[in-house]
Amino acid sequence: MSGSGQQLYVRGKRRIPGGTQLLSKRPEMFLPDQWPAYYSKARGVEVWDLDGRRYVDMSYNGIGACILGAADPDVDEAVRRAVQAGSMSTLNCPEEVELADLLCELHPWAEKVRYTRCGGEAMAVAVRIARACTGREQVAFCGYHGWHDWYLSANLGQEDALDGHLLPGLAPAGVPRGLAGTAHPFSYNRPEQLEAIVADHGGQLAAIVIEPVRSQKPEPGFLEGVRRMARQVGAVLIFDEVSSGWRLNTGGAHLLYDQTPDLAVFAKAMSNGYAMAAVIGIGHVMDAAQNSFISSTYWTERIGPAAALATIAKHRRCEVPRHLAAVGERVQAGWRSAAEQTGLSIKVSGLAPMSHLSFDYENGPAVRTLFTQEMLSHGFLASEGFYATYAHTDGHVDEYLAALRETFGIIAGAIERANVERLLKGPVAHAGFGRLT
Ligand SMILES: Cc1ncc(COP(=O)(O)O)c(C=O)c1O
Repeated sequence: MSGSGQQLYVRGKRRIPGGTQLLSKRPEMFLPDQWPAYYSKARGVEVWDLDGRRYVDMSYNGIGACILGAADPDVDEAVRRAVQAGSMSTLNCPEEVELADLLCELHPWAEKVRYTRCGGEAMAVAVRIARACTGREQVAFCGYHGWHDWYLSANLGQEDALDGHLLPGLAPAGVPRGLAGTAHPFSYNRPEQLEAIVADHGGQLAAIVIEPVRSQKPEPGFLEGVRRMARQVGAVLIFDEVSSGWRLNTGGAHLLYDQTPDLAVFAKAMSNGYAMAAVIGIGHVMDAAQNSFISSTYWTERIGPAAALATIAKHRRCEVPRHLAAVGERVQAGWRSAAEQTGLSIKVSGLAPMSHLSFDYENGPAVRTLFTQEMLSHGFLASEGFYATYAHTDGHVDEYLAALRETFGIIAGAIERANVERLLKGPVAHAGFGRLT
């Protein structure tokens, strides 16, 4: 076992069930027993572990939150001002009205806004609003939408309903059995699956929930068909932009596809590392939020809206999406050419700013673990996902691709000699949800 981070993680796992607060930050998801686990400092795409070792983050950059890079100076300055002015009071912070106006200006179809601080929580609010508005209970959904009961209930009847929606094996223990049969999954770009749900439950559907885009682009007519079906049955169409938002443009990706939902949900990148989330929507649907009790103390604090206003201003001013696309395209091209040079069989998927790499081998998880292990020894946090940030420079990408070519060479040799597992200094990385011992 290496480093102070792993020692702390052993202690952390004794106190914190599951080890971390977010499954995607579990060290076991990257490199069991070797991942640095904790950071002492993060600036831009540089991260220092507890022993002062420096890494360049070519993985998830705050699991998609730090779109400008960690500790962005402009966002941090706005946050410092909010802290100095008092982050909390009996009165409300004016920034929440300013941000509501800005979100509606960016999304002219939307008229009203509510806030939470996390993505899954905002999705739960959106689904509650849809249920309150329609007086119905059933939800059809595609994709990952957080940890709340409405979503996990899909796994009550059949354990694997959520597999194929980003995170496999999500356990619904503790979700009331009474919710079984209220959430119906369908796959992206498979309109016939949604048609079947609509045929069975159309008149009871409160909402159709979908990420407008994620690992694949929409086939022509797919989003239009989803929009049409929602209208046909009177269900609220919710676009989850928690991950897709702010990557391709300033705002929701749906703006690029010319499709308008009834509600859209933002979090993560909207506020660059400070907790903030928003549900935006058309007036009469959003007004249903008044008929249901949706209320929380820290949804009123000042740091989140101040960070979001500063993030969005910089995002616009600096044309951040253009940079993200260029960096992501370079990384994807680098993966492909390194694989060609070394004879490795890989799959590249995802939008350029949220790229995904997988190793096309029977022992793919072991190969991925070896990749992370070798890249870590070169000073990179690297895994199958790459989230581009405004702080990634050509220099970072050059250094990463040089290390990647060397690592792909090592992996190709190991595959040829059938000794990938023997080169691992610890266990194989976990792929999904599982109980930790
Ligand atoms: C599309 C989508 N929805 C919802 C969530 C949940 O957001 P949070 O982790 O902030 O609760 C995520 C997180 O990855 C997401 O990608």
